Amino acid sequence: MKQQLEALRVEALAQLDALSSQKEIEDFRIRMLGKKGELTALLRGMGSVPAEERPVIGQMVNELRQLLEEKLETKASVLASEAKNARLAAETIDVTLPGEQRTVGGLHPLNNVLEDLIDIFRSMGFDVVDGPEAETDYYNFEALNVPADHPARDMQDTFYLADNLLLRTQTSAAQIRTMENRKPPIRIICPGRVFRADEVDATHSPVFHQVEGLVVDKGITMCDLKGVLEQFAREIYGPQTKVKFRPSFFPFTEPSVEVDVSCSECGGEGCRVCKGTGWIEILGAGMVHPRVLSGCGIDPEEYSGFAFGIGLDRLTTTRHKISDIRLLFENDVRFLDQF
Ligand code: PHE
Repeated sequence: MKQQLEALRVEALAQLDALSSQKEIEDFRIRMLGKKGELTALLRGMGSVPAEERPVIGQMVNELRQLLEEKLETKASVLASEAKNARLAAETIDVTLPGEQRTVGGLHPLNNVLEDLIDIFRSMGFDVVDGPEAETDYYNFEALNVPADHPARDMQDTFYLADNLLLRTQTSAAQIRTMENRKPPIRIICPGRVFRADEVDATHSPVFHQVEGLVVDKGITMCDLKGVLEQFAREIYGPQTKVKFRPSFFPFTEPSVEVDVSCSECGGEGCRVCKGTGWIEILGAGMVHPRVLSGCGIDPEEYSGFAFGIGLDRLTTTRHKISDIRLLFENDVRFLDQF
């Protein structure tokens, strides 16, 4: 019996050493110390032990049991702390690693300039309106005093979509839609994309941007037109800016002008931005033609007005010294990042 106990002790300690998980510890406990365990089985054999030896054997069994329980407990806590350390090691964060760079988006330069422009006109009491990019012949041409066979249609190469439907060549269509929907006094601007079948080069794009403006009220004169547009030019380009009005022609305005501002880059001496002329053309304008007014149900004897169409792309390229209009449409992030 003693030998059996000794053998079990050696065997159990060896097994215990090799245990490597909580589950194995639990299995071992049941196998050795449980009701049907090996040690318990040995105890059952006590009956065959001579009475005088029983206390000694009993003590040995108890000692072994105690020893195994203690060792199991130590083993369990060692395993638990090993597991914890391993988990902590796996969760370690290296705070010295470089962070992930997140780039912040920004407004496109066109929108940037447009927002300034809208602020300026809002401060002068203008509303901002919207209009469709696919227009009918009526709003884009007919109602603007450009009948079907009018030579002015050649000035704007048009993309036709279907019968009677085209991509607007000018935001001036918004003048008509506005006058049909509002009664004077009218003060609106309409920013938007326009389309012309132009060859693409550094200054031309088949898609570009205009901001239409329209004022209709009693007693509006060319002085109002000049005052508003001069004020606008100075706010956009700076107070020292000179403004020049040149006679021009548009079928829907009479008289018509084109407006140049002194080059903001060279101050009027001539440079790359103004192509050596000292001036930059930024818009077309004029007094709304009486025929356009009456076509929209506004009596030209009672009301008068002026309209203007600002080239937003030109405004943007000159302000930011962008040499090629195509850059505005390519959306190359390396370019856009600079604004
Ligand atoms: N629509 C004209 C153009 O595209 C500009 C313009 C607008 C002229 C309003 C006069 C009045 O060239």
